[in-house]
Amino acid sequence: MRRMVAETRLQPADLILPAFVREGITEPVPIAAMPGVVQHTRDTLRKAAVEALEAGVSGIMLFGVPEDAKKDAAGTAGTDPEGILQVAIRDVKAEVGDDLVIMSDLCLDEYTDHGHCGVLDGDGRVDNDATLERYAEMAQVQADAGVHVVGPSGMMDGQVGVVRDALDTIGKEDVSILAYTAKYSSAFYGPFREAVGSSLQGDRKTYQQDPANLRESMRELALDLEEGADMVMVKPAGPYLDVLAKVAESVDVPVAAYQISGEYAMVEAAAEKGWIDRDRAIFETLTGIRRAGAQMILTYWATEVGQKLSAGR
Ligand code: PBG
Repeated sequence: MRRMVAETRLQPADLILPAFVREGITEPVPIAAMPGVVQHTRDTLRKAAVEALEAGVSGIMLFGVPEDAKKDAAGTAGTDPEGILQVAIRDVKAEVGDDLVIMSDLCLDEYTDHGHCGVLDGDGRVDNDATLERYAEMAQVQADAGVHVVGPSGMMDGQVGVVRDALDTIGKEDVSILAYTAKYSSAFYGPFREAVGSSLQGDRKTYQQDPANLRESMRELALDLEEGADMVMVKPAGPYLDVLAKVAESVDVPVAAYQISGEYAMVEAAAEKGWIDRDRAIFETLTGIRRAGAQMILTYWATEVGQKLSAGR
């Protein structure tokens, strides 16, 4: 009866797998703060994509981790057609074609030696408009590599519009934009910074949002839609379900939520200590995010949960 009257259901196709691929490694490297998640080699990434597809997951969000020596102030590796993310997009595309939606992180933080999401001005501050020019170039190389959806995540003002123009200019009108609409300056990104080998000193408070604000997110939402966002996202997910619910009731585009590294790590750590039931906790967090209004969820558990759902859980 409970199953019959359930108001919220979770399906494998609701899930998107975020995945890290690191340049120059021959074996996958475990991420200590995210038990079960690795930095992939090009080869294991292809396998992970196939596994996700077989589990019914609908998309994969790729993050590139360049060799340390390739990081510089401008994040050059992010716009190099042979940069790790572009190579990975081509690899995954060759492996799964158009059966899995291939998405890419469009941000400079993985490629800059200072670790910020943009380029800096003479005073060491993130230069919004100079960064937009870099994002335009990134969008074009990622699109050329064959990505289906780009995910601008750097929270620069005007980024969605600039990326849309850049894509249209090179005839990539069919590449979609998943806008990181409400991306909060969160403590829960901690494990991710290890995952991408971030060089960041300091924080991202000048460009990511204050956790105290909801109205501000609605303004970000209006701007992103005006600039051409095809889908919008709230991130992190769990601590921001009210934001998610409000966004979901306000728009007529698909809404995503990103269950981030720290949300994953908390459940894994508590489960490892035997303090919570891992499986139940995972499904409860995901069901909560769905109930709040996300139709797509980026989660590091995507493949595992997809497999369990397919097996009739
Ligand atoms: C920025 C980016 C971040 C995440 C996704 N894209 C990190 C940040 O803003 O500091 C975090 C994802 C996670 O924590 O799982 N490229």
